[in-house]
Amino acid sequence: MKLLVCGGAGFIGSNFVRLRLEESDDEIIVLDKLTYAGRRENLADLEGNSRYLGLVHGAIEDPAAVAEAAKGVDAIVNFAAETHVDRSIAEPDAFVVTNGQGTYTLLERAREDGLRYVQVSTDEVYGSIEEGSFTEESPLQPSSPYSATKTGADLLVESYFHTFDLPTSIARGSNNYGPFQYPEKLIPLMILNAMHGDSLPIYGDGMQVRNWLFVEDFGRGIGHVLDHGKYGEVYNCGGPDECPNIDVVKRIIELTGTSEDLIDYVTDRPGHDRRYSLASTKLEGLGWKARTHFAEGLEQTVAWYRDNAAWWESIRSGDYREYYAKQYGRELT
Ligand code: NAD
Ligand code: DAU
Repeated sequence: MKLLVCGGAGFIGSNFVRLRLEESDDEIIVLDKLTYAGRRENLADLEGNSRYLGLVHGAIEDPAAVAEAAKGVDAIVNFAAETHVDRSIAEPDAFVVTNGQGTYTLLERAREDGLRYVQVSTDEVYGSIEEGSFTEESPLQPSSPYSATKTGADLLVESYFHTFDLPTSIARGSNNYGPFQYPEKLIPLMILNAMHGDSLPIYGDGMQVRNWLFVEDFGRGIGHVLDHGKYGEVYNCGGPDECPNIDVVKRIIELTGTSEDLIDYVTDRPGHDRRYSLASTKLEGLGWKARTHFAEGLEQTVAWYRDNAAWWESIRSGDYREYYAKQYGRELT
């Protein structure tokens, strides 16, 4: 199969491309706008692989760029999105354009060319849950501009199945972590700050719970939905473990050999979801199962950041410093 992977230069997309080239015979072309979160370096090791057909630099909301990249493909897998909740609170407009208009543009291309379409989505569309876990039947109650635009995209995808018989499926993942994650997100931010002796900013009381999923497990889950998912269906893909943020940070402190004195409780995120938890029984019924527990995956992730300074040094010395100063009201070392 020949795949167009949109957003393939980002964290989960690049891990997916690498894994899929290893574990299938697919050919892959990437379409990516290369925003702050999309980096050519994330795919550099794949240059020279004859089934990696390269990266088209363009936006998913641009019909011409999409038509060019989609020439001759059998399926579109869409990872491309604005993804950071804090940025969606500060500046929501890009979220509406990419997550909304961008998804629409891809769906129109898929309709025109008769393509299989898989949308990569998130547990955040269900909102927060105090007890138990969300199933695919749970109501959609997004809290942030990020999750609201992802919800809108999911509904649009479903409408193209119902109205136009487009062969769509949706994979909804829980919080991912692993190599190549941009350090605005909790785990890489805490690892790099701990390694540099910078303070560790915990929102509110730090007792918010996330359902951690190793990025390769999500990549295999999305591949499973692409290969075996029914058209018109949604599949939850949740991690095997849940953990409150403060415990995640304390474990990172242990793994990096730093001190709990770095912990800094800061003002809470507005509209902060308290807990996410996904039931993945439906996807497990198709034969998928998460392989990596959080304790093991976190150790691997800390080791990856320790061993790949060249990857994060250019980020930490660039625009990210400005973002950080604005978001946290302090400078990085
Ligand atoms: P990311 O921010 O690391 O990467 C996003 C990628 O999309 C980047 O390469 C960026 O350049 C690209 N992009 C952004 N706007 C674009 C546009 N208009 N046109 C083309 N490309 C564009 O994100 P991620 O964490 O890898 O998330 C990938 C997908 O998975 C997203 O759809 C996200 O909603 C979903 N998701 C993420 C998580 C998580 O924990 N990170 C969990 C579940 C689902
Ligand atoms: O649940 C899936 C979602 O996970 C994805 O759809 C999103 O794209 C992804 O960004 C992520 O959203 P979260 O908001 O859960 O992730 P984030 O890493 O931003 O935050 C995780 C938790 O840590 C959350 O409760 C907020 C808290 N946090 C985060 C940061 C960046 C802090 O306490 N301090 C911080 O500095």
